Order: sequence, then C-alpha cells, then structure tokens
Amino acid sequence: MIPQQIIDQIKLTADVVEVVGDYVQLKRRGTNMIACCPFHNEKSPSFYVSASKQIYKCFGCGKAGDAITFVKDIEGLNYGEAIRFLAKKYGIEVPEEVERTDEAQAEYNERESILIVLNWAKNFFQEQMKTTDDGQAFGLSYFRSRGFQDKTITDFELGFSPEGWDGMIKAAKKAGHSIDLLEKAGLIVQKENQQPIDRFRNRVMFPIYHQNGKVIGFGARMLGNDKNQPKYLNSPETQVYHKSEVLYGLFQAKQAVRQADNCYLTEGYTDVIAMSQAGVKNVVSSSGTSLTPDQIKVISRYTKNVTVLYDGDAAGMKASVRGIDLLLEAGMNVRALTFPDGDDPDSYLKKVGENAFEEYLKGNTTDFISFKASLYAEEAASDPFKRASVITEMVESIVKIPDPIARQVFYTQCAKVLNISEELLIEEGNRILIKSQQDANKVTRRQQEQAERTRALEQQALGELGAEPPEAGEYGIAVDPITRVIEVSERETMRMLITYGEKSMWEDLTVADIYKGELEDIEFITPIYAKMFQIFLAEMQLDRTPNTQFFLDHSDVEVRTETINLITTPHEPSEQWLLKKIPIVKEEDVLRGAVTQDIFRIKLKKVEKVIHEIKLQIPKANEEELDILLSNIQELLKAKLSLAKALGRPVG
Ligand code: UTP
Ligand code: MN
Repeated sequence: MIPQQIIDQIKLTADVVEVVGDYVQLKRRGTNMIACCPFHNEKSPSFYVSASKQIYKCFGCGKAGDAITFVKDIEGLNYGEAIRFLAKKYGIEVPEEVERTDEAQAEYNERESILIVLNWAKNFFQEQMKTTDDGQAFGLSYFRSRGFQDKTITDFELGFSPEGWDGMIKAAKKAGHSIDLLEKAGLIVQKENQQPIDRFRNRVMFPIYHQNGKVIGFGARMLGNDKNQPKYLNSPETQVYHKSEVLYGLFQAKQAVRQADNCYLTEGYTDVIAMSQAGVKNVVSSSGTSLTPDQIKVISRYTKNVTVLYDGDAAGMKASVRGIDLLLEAGMNVRALTFPDGDDPDSYLKKVGENAFEEYLKGNTTDFISFKASLYAEEAASDPFKRASVITEMVESIVKIPDPIARQVFYTQCAKVLNISEELLIEEGNRILIKSQQDANKVTRRQQEQAERTRALEQQALGELGAEPPEAGEYGIAVDPITRVIEVSERETMRMLITYGEKSMWEDLTVADIYKGELEDIEFITPIYAKMFQIFLAEMQLDRTPNTQFFLDHSDVEVRTETINLITTPHEPSEQWLLKKIPIVKEEDVLRGAVTQDIFRIKLKKVEKVIHEIKLQIPKANEEELDILLSNIQELLKAKLSLAKALGRPVG
C-alpha cells in the first residue's frame, strides 16, 4: 500500500543504531553495539546491533531483525504502521495510499479527519484551561487541588471545557471543522430538530490516547457535585474510539510497562495520573468498564504480568474479581492488591505519600488466587452452606490457568487458604476441565504427533544412556535420568566449545563469545565439564579464546583425557537426537543454528531440573515458603516456555 520507493528510502535512511538507541542504552563492543535486550528480562547484555549490517539480534531470546521489525515489535505496530512511524521520525513524507478503492479511501480520509479534529479539540481544551478566567479558576485550580503538578498536567495534556452550550462548536467552525465531523468525533450532542450542543461542558478534560499516541476520545469529570449529572462523561464509540480496546494511560506507560515487565491496572483516570506522578509509571486503567479480552490482548504485547489494584470495597471487588478470570485464561500472571478503608490508589497515595505508597505496593501484592480465596475465606468458614458455591467460584478461576503445574500449585494454595480438602478442589476442577476439553477438543493432531516424537527421542536417549525410562512418578519425571540427560547436554556443549570456539558466529563474535555470554551464570553439573567450563571462562577473562589445542595441552590430565574423548568420539547417529533437524555432516556449515540450539537445549534442561526440584519441596512448604516457591515456579515456567518455543518443541 505504501509505494515501494518510499519503503526503500526509509530502509536507506533509518539507522538501526539510532532507532534502537531510542529505547535502550547501547554500548560499543568491537564493531557492534550491545545492550540489555528490551524484549526480555536480563542482567547481562546479549542484544547485539550491527551498524554495518543494519540488523540486531538477541542471543538470549532470539529476537532479530532490522530497524523496521524492531519498531514493529517494540511499538506493537503492523508493517505499514512501522513504516509510517519511521517516516515520521526521519521526516520522510508518505503519500496517501494509491491503490485504495474509493470507498476505502473515503473511510480512511474520514478516520484521519476525525483524528485531526480530536487533536484540535484537545488543544482547544488545553487553551481554555490556560487562557480563560473560568479555565484557570475552575479547571486548573481543580487539578491543582488534587495535587497534580504542572508538569503532570502538561504530560497528560489535561484541559477544561467551557460552560455554555456551543463554545467549542463555535471555535471549531472558525477553525474550519464541520458539524458533521464534530458529530463523528463524538464531540457534540445533536437531538432531532434541535441545534447541536457541545457534549462536554464545564468539565475537566482527560484526553484518551491510542497506544500510538493519537487522541481518540475524552473522559470528562464534572466540577462540583451535581447529583443529576454523571461524575464522568466519556466519548461515545466512534470510528476511532473503541472502548473495549483502549487502556487509559498506556501510551504514556508502555515503555515503563515493558521495562518493569509488569503492568498495574487501576480503575480510574486519576489513579493512573497520580501514580504516574509518584513515579510508578507502569500503570493503566480500564476506565470504568470491566476489563475486556481485547484490552488484555493489548497489554500482553507489552508484558505477561498484571497487578490489579482494587479500591477497598468488598462488594464491588467480588464483582470485578470475576472479570479477572479473563486474565488467567489469557495465560497472564495475575497479582492483586487492595487498598484499605475504601481508598483508591489516588486517595491512598495522597494520604500516605510516595514512599509509603511504594512500600505498600511492594508489601501487599499477592498472587491472584490467594487474593480471591481470602476474599471468600470468611464466607466459607462461617457458612457451611456457602462452601459449595465458594469452592465452585475458586475452582472456576483455577481451571482457567492454562499451565497444569501452575494449576496444581494453586490448588494446594487455595485449599490451605480456604481450609478445604485439596482433593475436593482438584476433583471439581477436573470435572470442569474434562468437560471443557470435550467441548473444545483443543489438541490438534499435529501437536500430539510432535509430542510423541519428542517423547520417543527422549526415551531413546535415556535408553542409550543406560538409564531406566522415567518412572511415571509424581510429576512424570525421575531425578536420575534428568541428571543424565543434562550430562549429555553438557558433554555436547563442551564438544562444540572446544571444537568450534574460535569460529566466527556473527560479525566479530566467536562461538566462544556466545557461549561465554549465554552460559556464564549456568552451573554445570557434571564435574569434569564444570571444571573445563571454568578453565574456558578463565581464559576468556584474559581475552584469549581457548582452542582444541589449548585443551589438549592442558596441565590437568583429566582435562586432556576428556578432550581427546570429546574430539575423537565419532558422532554417532544415536546421538542425532541432540542435533535434531541438523544433519551431522554439515554441522560446521550450520554452526550458527547448532550453537543456538545447543544453548537453548542446555538451558531448557537446567530449567526443567530446577522446576522438578522445587516441586519436590512443595508438599513440605509452609504458606510463606509456598509463596516464594510459587513465584519461582512461575518465573521458571515462563523461561521454559520460551526456551521450548525457541527449540520448536511442544510444551507439556
Ligand atoms: P470512581 O467513581 O472510582 O472515580 O470511578 P475516580 O477515578 O476515583 O475519580 P475521582 O477520584 O472521584 O475523580 C472510576 C472510574 O470509572 C469511570 C471513570 O473512568 C472513573 O475514573 N466512571 C466513573 C465513569 O465513566 N462514569 C462515572 O459516572 C463514574
Ligand atoms: Mn478517586
């Protein structure tokens, strides 16, 4: 839709280093730039940007591409939007689409015009607040009385709509905007046979932005308290404002959300603004409506972790808690927190101050299931007849969690909090699950086949190692075989390292550089490989890349012997499972893929082992420990998921 020569021009002009540099701090390393990856959480940088090739790649999470894909991913845009985004940054004019049908063109023009008039209205409301007597006396002073600083007022572009019936209409006409357009933008109210009037009158104005930064509507709060008026008046649905997809504050919050890898979800406009002013910038609001699946989809582009903040009002809480099941269903990690005495985040913040507020956030956030269970705990304890409904209520939330292991943990937790038998909960949950499974027959044939294939390969590997196939134990895995599989993984890693360490992976990065960066923090379990890896790291520390000869000449006889084993052991077909998809003869040719696969594989094995170990601790844990174990498992499951995905494996 955008002419090819414009796309080419943007590709030539947009510098990946500049574009990425707007989001992360790049440091030079060799001919590349490096940073901590903006797409996943990491402490040491594995995100590389090559100025000469105009590409980036993260060796941690696998994201890679050019300036355009970077903008797409980080801003959550489609290709066309990303092109326009970059065009704007570099002042390149993108002509209107040429191949649109007249109808599509008209619709497009109309949407653009609506956005223009909304932006104009935003400026108008700001002007009104700054330059008119009423604006200052009522609007500005209202915001100030709520503790909003001038910078905050400017950042959120707050404004004031004048009293009277048609102040805005008149100004709009003067600026050349038609009544028709004002109506389509939701800015006026027009009754049959009557003159149109301003929709927003004598209210303070909160512009609502799309996450791309365009104003798409308004929230407007009344001044004073007229019982006959709604406290907040919002724009109606229009061509550009779709309530169910919008989160107030997301445009301002998105960067912080990604960085914190968490999003606070509040109920009101003022909660968002107050928290943001207090430095908690990763905050949005669903603004009055209950959370929708579309809103969740939008959030999940930026983070999988949501902390829901509730006003401390028990009745309302139970109602909205139900909506939160949607988040669980979407596979989000949900946490929750309540404010005391009917306070909302804004009022509580004002009451206790910024520091105490942040302490409160830190100290009182719990996982969602415990939060919900505690809401119902009293009811269940005092009224035996209510127990059944409380159990159903809880179990319905728990079965929404897609991951079976996380589900198990929550059953345990919930049983404890409600003082109900765990078996009972599980039984009830399984009933619901079986039913929904039958309904939706979700597992496709392909997935099943893949799972079987992987299983067969693992079995084969275990068999070749002389290990018993795993007992169908508590979690289907026995400890010993895992350790042995890890041994094979470690062996393979060392073999790759001493054979190909000096080979170039990417620009001036060697295979050894990649292994060092990725596996530095990983503990090798097999003593000989642990030792060899330490030796390797020590050499790297001295800026030397140890090659095969180095290990062959090493003073430690064990190291020498193992090196010989590693390089002489023929690469038997039986080991092929370790290099699935990668034909062994061509290993050197496909080195890059092999190294990446190898790193992912060893990490996956480690993660699986740790998860298994944690699970063994669960039955013995007290409540506090359970919390910690639980959040650890959640983190690990996330890691496992992305690793398994990177390896192209089914997750199960
Ligand atoms: P609240 O009544 O809790 O308001 O409504 P609030 O955000 O604390 O506002 P202040 O502090 O009194 O100014 C929560 C949200 O519900 C929506 C608004 O988005 C509001 O921020 N709401 C509320 C409406 O849309 N219409 C209303 O009449 C009331
Ligand atoms: Mn409030």
